[in-house]
Order: sequence, then structure tokens, then C-alpha cells
Amino acid sequence: MFLMFSKMAFLAAVLLLTSGYSLLANPQPTPLQLFDARIRPIFQSEDPSSCIQCHLSSVDLKDYILPPHQQTFASLKAQGLIDLINPAESKILQLIQMGEKDRDQLAKLIHEKTRKAEYQAFAAWIEACCQDETLVQMPASESEAWAKPDIPDVVIHHTRKSRVIDSFARNIWSQRMRCFPCHTPYELDSNNPKHQQPLKKVDNFAKQYGQAHAQRLRLFKQTAPETLQYWIERSQQVSEDGYPLINIQHPPHSLILLKPTSKLPPMVNGSRQKASNTDPVSHMGGLKMHRDDPSYKAFIAWLEDYAKVVAGRYQSVQELPQDNWYPSKHVVMIEDVPKEWPNSVRVQLQIHVWNQQRSTWQVEPIAFTQNSLTPKRRLVGTLFLMRPVDETRVWQLSEETLPPGKYLLKVYIDSEQHLDRQPTAMLTTRSFYGQTIIEGEWTKTFKQARKIIGSQLKRE
Ligand code: HEC
Ligand code: HEC
Repeated sequence: MFLMFSKMAFLAAVLLLTSGYSLLANPQPTPLQLFDARIRPIFQSEDPSSCIQCHLSSVDLKDYILPPHQQTFASLKAQGLIDLINPAESKILQLIQMGEKDRDQLAKLIHEKTRKAEYQAFAAWIEACCQDETLVQMPASESEAWAKPDIPDVVIHHTRKSRVIDSFARNIWSQRMRCFPCHTPYELDSNNPKHQQPLKKVDNFAKQYGQAHAQRLRLFKQTAPETLQYWIERSQQVSEDGYPLINIQHPPHSLILLKPTSKLPPMVNGSRQKASNTDPVSHMGGLKMHRDDPSYKAFIAWLEDYAKVVAGRYQSVQELPQDNWYPSKHVVMIEDVPKEWPNSVRVQLQIHVWNQQRSTWQVEPIAFTQNSLTPKRRLVGTLFLMRPVDETRVWQLSEETLPPGKYLLKVYIDSEQHLDRQPTAMLTTRSFYGQTIIEGEWTKTFKQARKIIGSQLKRE
């Protein structure tokens, strides 16, 4: 008898130790326990969720969490993000799994740990909620109080990393030959006889500046995404003695913009001073970009947009910039400009296409360029074409061209320095000077630029 009892006690003890807990207490943690242990920490975390792999701002997994936990579940359910029959198929889980599909293997890897943790936490909690009849039946509050991002989808699309990279490729990467050969190591071809001098020049950087500094001058990498990645990393290294490459606090003070718009450092006692990365900035490459030209405009447009994206400053569709500029090789030139144009005044050209159906010029321009008058009082500018943004585009640039045909060229004079205050602006009626019709083929070389004579411009 004693033996029996002790044997039973022993067995019971073993059972208690192994699965015993489930015999006595609730077999599974409750939805609330799971929420507190695994979902609430995601909500309270200072770190961004795995969504940042593709969404630089505007949306975060936290937006879908709204303690108390019943309210969170009811609101996800009301939005169709929960599958009550097959909890594992819930749409919120699919959103978390988006990162698995990324073609960017590195980004996928970087966020893998966070993504897995989020997935497991939500999967376990949703599973438990779906077994809880009270929760399943609970109605959601008014839709304004739902747990969801409070930003419109169009803004969410605009702040996606892939859109930001595509825009970087169009606005900045496409202009890299202006920094040739000094910052474009991958554009140098040792088999090209014309590249021998430039190669020598770049090879000398290591001797002139030291290996580490020369390395830093390799600003443009092999691809647009690699270049952007490198610039972002460089900009995160805090430096006391200079502006960051990309300045998200104050985009016009990005070194990538300040350097090429600055002159050579001054000469002192017959020798050139060291270039400076703070005010007054100077550049050993000299003046490579004017504050007026189309590359500058495209650089600053991208930098300002990027700063707003990463700071999460866009809330509504109205605040979004157009971001529809595509580089081309079409050059427009105005010679013998009207006498009344002040020296070195900034001129903007906008090109409109003929609308066959309505027999009129399209209101929105299809291309633009701008520049200041050269000392010889000539205006030269390369066109950026304005195209509807294609969501599915990737950063690879195809060459953009205008078909031959009839176009209207409108000329605007920035005598009020409007572009100083708003470098990305398109000038309007106030600054309009004159227009002319142009017809024929568009060429791709400077030599065969589309030429117009000042006297061709008519007030209407
Ligand atoms: C691998 C990249 C990637 C990841 C990671 C990602 N998304 Fe997205 N997301 C996209 C893309 C691409 C779109 C645009 C879909 C389209 O254009 O149809 C999008 C769009 C959205 C939208 C807008 C609505 C819509 O359907 O267009 C929301 C909301 C959203 N994602 C939420 C999230 C949340 C929340 C996370 C994290 C849990 C996340 N996404 C993670 C790529 C991603
Ligand atoms: C003829 C050669 C040359 C060209 C062309 C040139 N640069 Fe430079 N750049 C230099 C040299 C040399 C330095 C290093 C000394 C200095 O800081 O000015 C430099 C430095 C820089 C730096 C600072 C890098 C650092 O880490 O300190 C930036 C940014 C820069 N250039 C941007 C540009 C951009 C953008 C263009 C094209 C629009 C351009 N440069 C065109 C020669 C050139």
C-alpha cells in the first residue's frame, strides 16, 4: 500500500514536472498575457519595426497596435486584417512577411530577426484571440479610432525606399558625369585612350591626400542604390569639422551640394590652402555646378524630399512634391538673347506639347531646363522631361527622349530671384518673357543643340 502510494506520488510528481503545469493551470497563455509579453513591447519600442526595410516613414507596425488588447484585436478584425477561420492567413501577418519578398538580399537579412520576432508574436496572439469567443464577438469602435496608419496610401507610396532610390537615380545619379573623373571611379575605362589623363589624375589623389582621403573621394559607386547607401552611412558619421554629405536638418547645407558649387580654396603666399568642409566651403575640384543650373535644381529637389521623407514630415497628398523629372540629353540654346535681359540673369525654359484632340497646347509642361546667361550672353540647358511617375519603376535608367513634333517653348526670366528662395520652383506667369514654336527632331549632343534666336520670342 505504502509502496503503491509512493509510486503514484512519484508518477504524479513526474507528470507535474513535465506536462503537469498544463494539467493544473490554464494550458495556454491568454490573449492578454501574450499581448503584454510580446505585442506591447513592440508598441513601446523606440526602434522602428521591420516595415522600415521598405517604408522609410509613414507606416510602422506600431500603428496597428492600440492598447487595450481587446480594442487592438477588434480594430484589426474590422479592417479585414484578421482571418478568424484561418488565423495564420491573416492579412496583418502577410504585411509583416512582405520583407521576405524583397529583392534586396542585404536589406532582407538586416531586418530578418525583427521580422521573425514580430511575426511569431502576432501569429501566437492572433491564434489565441481567435479561440476566445468574447474577443471574436466584440464589436470595434468607430473607424476613426481604429489602429491603423493615419497617413493616406499615396503618402505611404511616396515614402517607400524603392521610390526614393528611383528618384535618386533620376535626379542625382544621372548627373554623375559632371563629377567625372574625380568622383566616378567606375566610369573610368583603362582601355579608353581618352581616359588615360583622367586615370592619372585620379591615381594621384592617393599621393596628394593619402589613401584614406582618396578613398573618400570615390563618391559615386557602381550603382545608384550602392551610392545612396554609402552617402547615408557617410552622413551618419558625426564630424565636427564639416557638413555631412547629406544634411537632413538643412538640405541646402549638404556637402554634396556645397562642394561642387564652391570655388577653389584661396592662395596664400603662393600656395593653395587646404580645401574646407565648413564655412566658407571650398572645393579642390573648383566650381562644377552653378546654383542656377538643372543639375543643381535636381540635386536640391531630391535632398529636400529625402529629408522630409526620413523625418516623416509628409502628412497629406498636397504636401508631396511632383517628383516626375527624368533626365534627357536634349540641349536647348538661346543665342542673341534680348538686350533687356540683365547679365547672368537666371532663365527657365518650359516646353509644352501640342494636344491634338483639343487643338491646343497642353497646360502642364512636358520638359524644362534652366540656367544663367553665360558671359557671352547665351543660354544653354539640358532638358529634364516631366513624366507621370511609374510606381513599378526600378532605379535602372533608360534613356528618355522627346518624340519629334510640334512644341511650344516658354521662356521665364527670374529677375525677382524667386529661385533663390525656392530653388525647386517652376516659374509662373509673373516671370513670363516670351514664347516660340519649335518643330522637328530632338538631338542628343551639345553640338546639335536645338537653337533659338532671341528675336524669335514673342509675347504670345
Ligand atoms: C519588401 C518591402 C516591403 C515591406 C517590408 C513592407 N512593405 Fe508595405 N508596401 C510595399 C509596397 C511595394 C507597397 C505598395 C503596394 C502597391 O503599390 O501595390 C506597400 C504598401 C503598403 C501600404 C499601403 C497600402 C497599399 O496596399 O498600397 C501599407 C499600409 C503597408 N504597405 C504597410 C506595411 C507594413 C505595416 C509593413 C510592416 C509590417 C510593411 N508594409 C512592410 C512593400 C513593403
Ligand atoms: C576635377 C576634379 C573634381 C571634379 C570634377 C569634382 N570634384 Fe569634388 N573634389 C575634388 C577633390 C580633389 C576633392 C578633395 C579636396 C576637397 O575637399 O575639395 C573633392 C572633394 C569633394 C567632396 C568632399 C568629399 C569628402 O569626403 O571630403 C565632395 C562632396 C565633392 N567633392 C563633390 C563633388 C561633386 C558633387 C562634383 C560634381 C558635381 C564634384 N565634386 C566634382 C575634385 C573634383
